[in-house]
Amino acid sequence: GSYRTQPPPPPPPSRDQTTPMAAAASSLLAAAASSSSRAAISVRRPRAASAAAAAAASIPSSSRTSFTPLRASPARALRSRVVASAAPAMEPPAVSRVSTVVDVDLGDRSYPIYIGPGLLDEPDLLQRHVIGKRVLVVTNTTVAPLYLEKVTWALTHQNPNVSVESVILPDGEKYKDMDTLMKVFDKAVESRLDRRCTFVALGGGVIGDMCGFAAAAFLRGVNFIQIPTTLMAQVDSSVGGKTGINHPLGKNLIGAFYQPQCVLIDTETLNTLPDRELASGVAEVVKYGLIRDAPFFEWQEKNMAAILARENQVP
Ligand SMILES: NC(=O)c1ccc[n+]([C@@H]2O[C@H](COP(=O)([O-])OP(=O)(O)OC[C@H]3O[C@@H](n4cnc5c(N)ncnc54)[C@H](O)[C@@H]3O)[C@@H](O)[C@H]2O)c1
Repeated sequence: GSYRTQPPPPPPPSRDQTTPMAAAASSLLAAAASSSSRAAISVRRPRAASAAAAAAASIPSSSRTSFTPLRASPARALRSRVVASAAPAMEPPAVSRVSTVVDVDLGDRSYPIYIGPGLLDEPDLLQRHVIGKRVLVVTNTTVAPLYLEKVTWALTHQNPNVSVESVILPDGEKYKDMDTLMKVFDKAVESRLDRRCTFVALGGGVIGDMCGFAAAAFLRGVNFIQIPTTLMAQVDSSVGGKTGINHPLGKNLIGAFYQPQCVLIDTETLNTLPDRELASGVAEVVKYGLIRDAPFFEWQEKNMAAILARENQVP
């Protein structure tokens, strides 16, 4: 994103992947979050998704690693700041596909980023972060047919008290504007949502930016959850709290900093992403390796064919 002038390196990829996309997402999220918010970031692996992943991670499943805010130091020095700690944190359910949790430590605005394949099949992950009984899912005409039903199920499964509304926006950067944003407010007002409601962004960076800004502004701020479904949104735009819309005279000129309650990254959503959009996210990931982390760059170079082919296992 435009906010990042000195992207810090991700942690070594061998430590945290279950799939190439999960690897990219978890390492980049840690880096992106710390560069943009200067928060203390910690990465946990509650359990490895497979024995192979456990071996690759080569850390105890209950361990927790912490990052201090990353700045312009050499990659080696930054890596040495990764320290083990026993700090308590919210754990995923006993049986969970969460392979990585990135804790973004912003004091009372701290939030977790859950990463793993199939997380939309785990209702508890979302439900624990819903405030109130009313949820507004903001999505678009491309993503709604793919994932809206699943997300609605996750929000309401064994949770009959929660009601879910949705607003389906037209797809495209050209709709990241005030007129389209107003459709979110229209729906929220017509549905008589009050301050105890939760906005859920389901989509790529455009939806995340718009829904986040709507959540920041509606009734001066309501609860907000991000479900990013493009690689770009997973590694970049869902992290750092930047939200907003475009002005006819320039991109992202109107907005707010607003942190979500949680970010839920189901890496399986990347399976439906068009190749071009996948490549756009991968280009973002490549940049980090190029600028700050030679071993990570080399790992990507070696495995790029597998990553672009969306293979499930990489060395
Ligand atoms: N807030 C920030 O810090 C930040 C950082 C970087 C970029 N951004 C913003 O993010 C936007 C770009 O985000 P983007 O690259 O995700 O583009 P996008 O949101 O336009 O998504 C790209 C396309 O993929 C579709 N799509 C999304 N998920 C899908 C899925 N799982 N399967 C199939 N199709 C899917 C979308 O409908 C869209 O057509 C820009 O507006 C940019 O300004 C914000």
